[in-house]
Amino acid sequence: MHIKMVVLAVALFVILSSCAVECWNTNSEMERLRCEQTTLHQQQDALAQMRLGCHQDRAKKEVAGTNILTYGAVDEEDDSLHVSEEDSRKQGDPCFHYTVLDQAWRATNTTTSYKRCDRNVKWNGWYRLFYNGKSIQMPERCVPVDKCGTNSPLWLAGPHPKRRDGIVTRNVCGHWKKDCCAFKSTPIQVKKCLGNYYVYKFTQPTSCRLAYCADINTLVCGRCRRNQSCVSQDKINWRCKTKKRILSNPQIHFFASYPGQLTGKVNRIKYSKVLVNMGRAFNRGTGVFTAPVKGVYQFFFSTQTANTNLKTDLWLVVNGYWVAVSHTHVFRPSTVGNLSTYMTFLRKGAVVYVTHNSGRSWANGSSMTITFGGSLLAQWK
Ligand SMILES: *[C@@H]1O[C@H](CO)[C@@H](O)[C@H](O)[C@H]1NC(C)=O
Ligand SMILES: *[C@@H]1O[C@H](CO)[C@@H](O)[C@H](O)[C@H]1NC(C)=O
Ligand SMILES: *[C@@H]1O[C@H](CO)[C@@H](O)[C@H](O)[C@H]1NC(C)=O
Ligand SMILES: *[C@@H]1O[C@H](CO)[C@@H](O)[C@H](O)[C@H]1NC(C)=O
Repeated sequence: MHIKMVVLAVALFVILSSCAVECWNTNSEMERLRCEQTTLHQQQDALAQMRLGCHQDRAKKEVAGTNILTYGAVDEEDDSLHVSEEDSRKQGDPCFHYTVLDQAWRATNTTTSYKRCDRNVKWNGWYRLFYNGKSIQMPERCVPVDKCGTNSPLWLAGPHPKRRDGIVTRNVCGHWKKDCCAFKSTPIQVKKCLGNYYVYKFTQPTSCRLAYCADINTLVCGRCRRNQSCVSQDKINWRCKTKKRILSNPQIHFFASYPGQLTGKVNRIKYSKVLVNMGRAFNRGTGVFTAPVKGVYQFFFSTQTANTNLKTDLWLVVNGYWVAVSHTHVFRPSTVGNLSTYMTFLRKGAVVYVTHNSGRSWANGSSMTITFGGSLLAQWK
């Protein structure tokens, strides 16, 4: 029993390594993507490969085949060979279980004399569009009549989903006789997958001759990296755009206090006792914080009234605007403290300070009652 397992493990290892090498030597983008999938569920694939031969061989057969629609789903692992929860999740995910549809005649720039009709196709499950091995998407705009190897080209009457949208349903339109949606064909389901490609659950169109289109202008989208999205203003010219993202923060934190009493109007409180000043964005000489980068900041500031029956107001001033108050007012012979917080988006160079507008605030060298502090929570590039 044990010896059997060792032999199996060695066999798996040999198969995995030989396949992996083969993968990285391939030029076709589609095969490379497939290879990435292979590494994702190595174990499952290895077991499947033991039965079915190398993944790549199958991929090549699928691409080479002209009558692609007769091929089954890409992955058909044995249900009894589940290895992990993640793998079982992928079992039901169309991003890992689609049929390759690599038919150049579907491109938006082809005109053929032989007109196809997708109504004659037995659609089953999910499909991914390719153009000579390169990932491609459906058009999101009206396609001229007699393109895409048919009479009435079918286009997606709505935007492709984002990844967080999951599976969405979209209407499909067929262009005919100057009406971009002369044929309101049966809706299809669409999903965006990791790796910047889409899978479509095509259905039988309403009539002949209608066929699903592959937008030749979206060939560029297959080249986008994972941290890029494919964008277009006019839905004709597409480009890869690096996603905006919050980068790891530079460390910006400060905390300071005023070590004495304040009375009446004090334009800028000069918090001279600085306990923390990471990033040196707070100026102890002026009491002013200057945002060193664009991002989301949080501030806090506090006061404590002296026993005076005066209204005491401290204001947080951001770029000249009074945005938040720390207010105290006591009538009885007593004191009270107040702490206010404020969170905001600041551009680089924004100026923040605290003004003592009225009343009397009390502090001494160790009381920490008149304080001002803040942090950069997230940088925005
Ligand atoms: C369609 O576009 C592709 C990619 O730009 C090109 O290789 C092909 O020759 C074009 N086909 C026609 C018929 O213009
Ligand atoms: C995007 O990802 C690539 C690797 O796939 C990396 O080299 C590049 O630096 C990333 N770009 C950004 C802006 O994060
Ligand atoms: C603290 O400040 C808030 C806002 O100005 C005010 O409503 C509240 O009464 C103050 N607390 C005390 C104890 O003065
Ligand atoms: C500051 O005030 C507190 C509270 O009244 C007091 O206990 C402390 O001794 C004072 N410290 C200094 C340095 O004056």
